[in-house]
Amino acid sequence: MKKILPLNRGLQGNITIPGDKSISHRSIMLSSLGNTPVEITNFLKGADCLSTIACMRAMGVKIEEYNDKILVTGNGLTGLAEPNNILDAGNSGTTLRLLLGLLSAQKFLTTFTGDDSLRRRPMGRVIKPLKMMGANIVGRNQNNNLPITIIPSAEKLRGITYKMPVASAQVKSAIILAGLYAEDVTTIIEPYPSRDHTEKMLSAFGAKINKSHNEIKVYPTDNLIAPDKIEVPGDISSAAYWIVLATILKGSDVTIKNVGINETRTGIIDVLRSMGAEIDLVNERVSGGELFADIHVVNSELRGTTFGGEMIPRLIDEIPVIAVAAAFAEGDTIIKDVGELRVKETDRLKAIVDEYNKIAAGAFEANADSLIIHGNRNFNFAECKTYDDHRMAMSLTIFGAAANGVSLDNDDCVKISYPDFYDKFYF
Ligand code: S3P
Repeated sequence: MKKILPLNRGLQGNITIPGDKSISHRSIMLSSLGNTPVEITNFLKGADCLSTIACMRAMGVKIEEYNDKILVTGNGLTGLAEPNNILDAGNSGTTLRLLLGLLSAQKFLTTFTGDDSLRRRPMGRVIKPLKMMGANIVGRNQNNNLPITIIPSAEKLRGITYKMPVASAQVKSAIILAGLYAEDVTTIIEPYPSRDHTEKMLSAFGAKINKSHNEIKVYPTDNLIAPDKIEVPGDISSAAYWIVLATILKGSDVTIKNVGINETRTGIIDVLRSMGAEIDLVNERVSGGELFADIHVVNSELRGTTFGGEMIPRLIDEIPVIAVAAAFAEGDTIIKDVGELRVKETDRLKAIVDEYNKIAAGAFEANADSLIIHGNRNFNFAECKTYDDHRMAMSLTIFGAAANGVSLDNDDCVKISYPDFYDKFYF
C-alpha cells in the first residue's frame, strides 16, 4: 500500500525523466537485426523493455547491460536463433505485438505467454493481417489470446495492402517488421497516424520505408545497416505526470529535460495548451530522426475542452493523467473516441470512473467510447485501486498529490515504465 499526501507547494527546477518506452523496445529489436554493435543510451530499464531484452537474448542476440548504456550486437536480419523455451512478454503489449510480426517471418517455431493482464488483451488485431501475409499463428482460443504459437511457413510472407480498423502503432509496427521479410511491398493505411518510431528508426537503419500522413509503404530488404549509437529521448508519457502536476499546482515553474517531442506523441501539449496551460518547448534538436526538447511548464488556470478523432492516438497513454487535469479545470471536458482505453493494461475508462470518483464524487462519467469530466469539484482523501496498471497508479498519485491525498493498494506496477517515479516525491 502507498499513501500519497497532498503536495502543498509548487514544483520547481529541472526534472529528468526515464527513456522513452516505445523507442527503447524498438532500439533493442532493430539493433538485434543488424550485424554490428549498437550503443543505446538513456534506455528505459523498465520491466516492459526488460521483457524485450529477455526475448531477444533467448533468440541468441548478445545484449550487454551497463549502468548508462546497453550494447546490442545482432546476427543480421536472418540471424535470430530458435529459442529453447516459451518467450514471456510479461505485461508488455509492445514486446508481444511487435515480436509477433518479426517472428512470423522466421524459420523456427515460437510460443509466447505473458502475465494475467496481457493474457486478457486482444491479439486478433495483429494476427489477422499477419495471417493475410501468409503467417501461421495459433492463439489459445477464438479471441486469439495468449499463449500464442507461431509455426514457420514454408513460403515467404506476401506483401499486402492492409487498411487498419484502429490506429495502433503496435499493429502497424508488427506488419512493418513482417514486411521487411516479405516477397513484395506492403502498404498499411491507418485511420489516423499513430506513433511512427518504427518507421523513423528503420530509416536510420537504411530500410526503405515511405510514409505519407496515414499511409506507410515498407519494402523488403536483405539487410539492415545498424547505426553505431541510438540516443533514446526522455518519454513524453512519463513527462506527462509532471506536466500536469506543474500545470495544476500553484507556484510551479519546472523544466523537464531532454524529452522526445515527435509530433505523433505531443497531443498532451496541444490539448493542455487549448485548456489554457502555459507550456514552452526549448532547446529543440534532432537525433536518430527523433525530435528532442526541454519542456517548460508553469502553473496555469485551466478550462474544459472537447477533443477526439485524430488527436487520440497522439495522447492515448496520457488520457488517465489528462483526466486529472480536467478535474481541476473550469467547466466540462469531453474526450471522444477512446474505446481503445478499454483494452489497455486494464479497462482504463472503467478504472477512471470507479477510482477517480472516490476522490471527486460525480466528476467522471464514461460511455462505450467517451469520457466526460465535470471540472472544479471538491476533492476527498480516498483509498483507490490501481488494477496493477502503471499509468493508473501514477495518474492517481498526481491526483492525490494535487488534491487531498490518496492511498493506493499497489504501486509496484510503476516499474513497468517509470521505476524511480516515487523517488521524485518525498512521501
Ligand atoms: C505503443 C503503442 C500504443 C501505446 C503503447 C505503446 C507502442 O499502443 O498505447 O503504450 O510502443 O507502439 P497501441 O498500438 O495499442 O495503440
